[in-house]
Amino acid sequence: MPASELAELRSVIRNTTHADEIASVEALLERAEQALTPAQRSRILARSRSLVARCRESSSHPGALDAFLQEFGLTNPEGVALMCLAEALLRIPDETTADKLIAEKIGAGDWQAHLGKSRSHVVNASVWGLMLTGRLVTLDSELATDIDGWMRRLVNRLGEPVVRTAVIQAMRILARQFVLGRTIDEALQTDNGQREPHDLYSFDMLGEGARTWSDAEQFYTSYSNAIDTVGLGESATDPKMANGISLKLSALHPRYEQAQRDAVLNDLGVKLLALAMKARSYGLGFSIDAEEASRLDLSLSLFETLARSPELSHWNGLGFVLQAYQKRAPAIADWLISLGLETGRQIMVRLVKGAYWDAEIKHAQEQGFADYPVFTRKTNTDLSFEVCATRLLQAPRAIYPQFATHNAATVCQVIELAGNREYEFQRLHGMGQLLYDELFNELGTSIPLRIYAPVGSHRDLLPYLVRRLLENGANSSFINRFLDARTPIDELVQDVLFRVRSEISLRHPEIPRPADIYRHAGEPRENARGIDLNDPRACHSLLEAVQTAASQFHTAAPIVDGVKSTGESEPVLNPADGSTVGRLVTSSHGDVDRALDCAQAAQAEWNRQGGDCRAAILERAACLLDSHRAELMALIGAEAGRTIADAQAEVREAVDFCRYYALQARRKFENPTKLPGPTGEHNELSLHGRGVFACISPWNFPLAIFIGQITAALAAGNCVIAKPAEQTPLTGSKAVQLLHAAGVPAEVLHFLPGEGSVIGAELVTDHRVNGIAFTGGTDTARQINRLLAGREGPIVPLIAETGGQNVMLTDSSALPEQLVDDVIGSAFGSAGQRCSALRVLYLQEEIADSAIEMLLGAMATLVIGNPLLLETDVGPVIDAAACASLQAHVSQMEQMERSARLLGRCQLPDACMKGTFFAPQIFEIDSINQLDHEVFGPVLHVIRYQIADLDRV
Ligand code: FAD
Ligand code: 2OP
Repeated sequence: MPASELAELRSVIRNTTHADEIASVEALLERAEQALTPAQRSRILARSRSLVARCRESSSHPGALDAFLQEFGLTNPEGVALMCLAEALLRIPDETTADKLIAEKIGAGDWQAHLGKSRSHVVNASVWGLMLTGRLVTLDSELATDIDGWMRRLVNRLGEPVVRTAVIQAMRILARQFVLGRTIDEALQTDNGQREPHDLYSFDMLGEGARTWSDAEQFYTSYSNAIDTVGLGESATDPKMANGISLKLSALHPRYEQAQRDAVLNDLGVKLLALAMKARSYGLGFSIDAEEASRLDLSLSLFETLARSPELSHWNGLGFVLQAYQKRAPAIADWLISLGLETGRQIMVRLVKGAYWDAEIKHAQEQGFADYPVFTRKTNTDLSFEVCATRLLQAPRAIYPQFATHNAATVCQVIELAGNREYEFQRLHGMGQLLYDELFNELGTSIPLRIYAPVGSHRDLLPYLVRRLLENGANSSFINRFLDARTPIDELVQDVLFRVRSEISLRHPEIPRPADIYRHAGEPRENARGIDLNDPRACHSLLEAVQTAASQFHTAAPIVDGVKSTGESEPVLNPADGSTVGRLVTSSHGDVDRALDCAQAAQAEWNRQGGDCRAAILERAACLLDSHRAELMALIGAEAGRTIADAQAEVREAVDFCRYYALQARRKFENPTKLPGPTGEHNELSLHGRGVFACISPWNFPLAIFIGQITAALAAGNCVIAKPAEQTPLTGSKAVQLLHAAGVPAEVLHFLPGEGSVIGAELVTDHRVNGIAFTGGTDTARQINRLLAGREGPIVPLIAETGGQNVMLTDSSALPEQLVDDVIGSAFGSAGQRCSALRVLYLQEEIADSAIEMLLGAMATLVIGNPLLLETDVGPVIDAAACASLQAHVSQMEQMERSARLLGRCQLPDACMKGTFFAPQIFEIDSINQLDHEVFGPVLHVIRYQIADLDRV
């Protein structure tokens, strides 16, 4: 197998990340049609239906937890309330917050509605008995018949220790259902009824998505120890017969993401090899779990390196997890087969459907990707599973297939596809036991079955638990309806090919493409397109285009009536290194005067053109901004110091503003609204532009806010004088040129770069200006307001968006990882230079130390440097004056001695010395009153509080 073939397959994988779903499914259908004969399909159906029937029979008294999860799924508020409790309760250290959470979640439910829905009152009561007392008992008859009353009394007693203890105990039981032990030693014990000695296991040391180096190191140690402990007790030498280890790579590196690719591959390459060699020395299997789609490309690279390591040659213990719900699944299957053949090994491939579906869908929508990386129809995932299973089974020299599912139909499908080829089944601890027991009873023989067994403490369980609760609670899940007699077996089990073919559409009609999410919700506007920075192919092209654009030289000058002025110019500097990005010609008094005259004369005609016409122009502008993405990103990066991700987000926001205001123009400015005519008269309301708007925008969103102000004013039928911030005229100039190219008449939109104190002041006081949109400092807004108040004539509207002190208040129910992600993103993203940036974080005393520790650890992983490099998280602050003012604040904090304490500060790398960088840092202070202004940069202040003081805070 030539290496080039492997590389080609890799590129097929990359090209199919966001492939069109219909084309992907058509390709799957073609492959599936040859996989099984109609007779085989009938056999699968018959076997799976009888398997379900037998499981239902033998579970006439299903486990209380099965019944519980069936009744309290995601389809009712009580189920969701209980899941929220399960998610949060166990980590809350203080009684007050725990009681409040219980009161909120239990107090709001309509529990009576569930009575009688489950198969028997006894099940219901015993479920509650289990949940609330921690023991499987049939509670008194009152509970069996009047759950609601019982719950009401319970709610009245909320706050009493007995209730808290009971609920916490119940949640522990729910969590423990899915975990084999708190430590690997506990998990390996076979005398506690949790584990049978002859069962095969793959142990997973719970933990994923490390946020700090210290967490990553701890997870590494726990995997390393687990391999030793499991290995020492292992007698089999063939990994197929031996226990194994499953690991999540995101646990081993605090930045397991594409943007940090080189660092991740270097660091993890070494660590993974060490772990794999250790597993090999004990004969254990070593499998890499599949996580979010964005991490897949990295996992493939690391896996290929492992597979090619001479230290691991001819070892059949290496394993990889393949998620069928990904559109690239068949291509990955082909790649794994080629890799196995090329490296002369059998790779253990665990085929699953995928556990992150909801998150993938939401993420792709938020980011505006071309399409989802996963299928939108469950049946498409099932079909992909069938095709991948067929493919893996056809390559026994390269692959040892491991089919991981709790779906009876999928199990029977595998049996039929496999014939007498070698493979194993896998199930999760706490799930699927009944299914496989009944299956092996029927077959009279057993196929190897491995149990995936999470091991760890509650602290690390949550993401895993949430995925299991989703899996059990979602009505699209087989397991959710498996034992529910209300779902007819024929409906539950159908032929995959038949199901896919009988769908009216191969895409889910209720899950529109990311571009169409607003339209689908009834708002005729397209979601701004985003390029997936985790997709190496798309990201590479974008970065190349940005680099090319970054080498261009720009000049910004006044544009009045479409004519760009010439004249003396000054350099525009790059805050990252002081280099010259372009030149600026400042507007003169004459430019201002001509622009205002011209705009004033043009406004009536612009207003007359109506909302539809203006909307069409703004929509064209959206398309132009989108197609000039790279050039705009390069400008935003070079001139404003914004990182690649921030710059792309800005372009998307600008595009969205154009479309949003286009929609408003159509809705509000085209047709008059009819009003009541009480005496038979005809009344209507029509909206019109006011005249000329001056739009004065800030440097911190040089494109988005600039475009937002202008397009709002234009949509409403106003002419616009746009004044960009002093620091970012080049981006503004480009944006105005694109608006003109889109069809905004030259006489309607004029561009006047220059000093705020000169040009801004002139505009504000000129009687030809009929409205002001301003974003910037509060002091300047007040000054504008005073100037406007001093003007003769009609009152001039001022739309001002100004600063403040943004606070985040967290109690002890917060999930630390989520808290840290949000705090780091908000406080240090865009180097803290956003009006929405977090300045003050209130932490409840009980969690303050641990939260601060994780925050400092996460802050330490930030990459500070050239914003146009993908790996950079934090770029420079805008200029030397900003740096000096931040430094003055920090010095003031440092002088406060006891009432302000520096908790941590990033090191600035040498490469930052030429630019105006400011190190992200965190201070602990006693009171928000110690801050007398908004600190506009990467400085976070933390304040501890007692929960009893919450209202005062
Ligand atoms: P089914 O009910 O047949 O399938 C449910 C699955 O279908 C959902 O999870 C989802 O993936 C998919 N789905 C649901 N709705 C839609 C829709 N509208 N469009 C498209 N697809 C949809 N998962 C991982 O991601 N990584 C792993 O490393 C991993 N390891 C596992 C190990 C074992 C031993 C087992 C048993 C499971 C593992 N899983 C892993 C979890 C696995 O992905 C879920 O258990 C699985 O999705 C449930 O599949 P099923 O065949 O049992 O159930
Ligand atoms: C998960 O963690 C089992 O790996 C799978 O959801």
